[in-house]
Amino acid sequence: MVGGYGRGPDILHGVTIEVDRGEIAVIVGPNGAGKSTAMKAVFGMLNVHSGSVMFDGEDIRTLTPQARVAKGMGFVPQTHNIFTSMSVEDNLEMGAFLRKDDFADTMEQVYDLFPILKEKRNQHAGELSGGQRQQVAVGRALMTQPKLLMLDEPTAGVSPIVMDELFDRIIEVARTGISILMVEQNARQALEIADKGYVLVQGANAHTGTGKELLADPQVRKSFLGG
Ligand SMILES: Nc1ncnc2c1ncn2[C@@H]1O[C@H](COP(=O)(O)OP(=O)(O)O)[C@@H](O)[C@H]1O
Ligand SMILES: [Mg+2]
Repeated sequence: MVGGYGRGPDILHGVTIEVDRGEIAVIVGPNGAGKSTAMKAVFGMLNVHSGSVMFDGEDIRTLTPQARVAKGMGFVPQTHNIFTSMSVEDNLEMGAFLRKDDFADTMEQVYDLFPILKEKRNQHAGELSGGQRQQVAVGRALMTQPKLLMLDEPTAGVSPIVMDELFDRIIEVARTGISILMVEQNARQALEIADKGYVLVQGANAHTGTGKELLADPQVRKSFLGG
């Protein structure tokens, strides 16, 4: 993907990212590297003027984000990813807005994955802790039964224990056959669970490998993992 925002300069100068069914792919890299921009490009929120975005064998580069959701993409943005003045349950219902069928079973699955959300289903989402809000955001994205779940820094601002729990839930989601594409600033921990890892620097791929390979790469360790 090569592209940028509106008529502005290119932010992505050639980023290649791939995730297969049921895999976890993790994007790491310094602030401003273009990680969020790459996620938005995959989701159709910026102008990819060369390269392509393939989903299930189909070039979806011209589709709107909403059409991509209909195809099976779920996206949890880095910020403003829940409706704070709405209840937890209403947030989940909003996630199902494109569905015409009965989504009660999916909601139960989300509550099985995140039991605390069932307990707090009638509370305003804004009253929840950071980790619980992220659960709402992930749950909301799962309501469309996506094939691909995209998460931009799902563990931002949460404690290490809550981070571990969230990663365990993300692994659980991947085991159901949903692909995960995730940006993470907790690079080491995220690469530990990654089938594929991407280090982005200045809008381009700097290092690519399995999570294990990147964790063992001396250059990656020195520059991005604190040694
Ligand atoms: N909405 C936007 N409009 C224009 N430029 C943006 C926008 N969002 C981010 N950028 C620019 O794109 C570059 C990459 O940002 P971003 O993708 O958010 O980085 P990262 O997620 O890796 O920290 C930065 O230079 C940032 O200023
Ligand atoms: Mg970002």
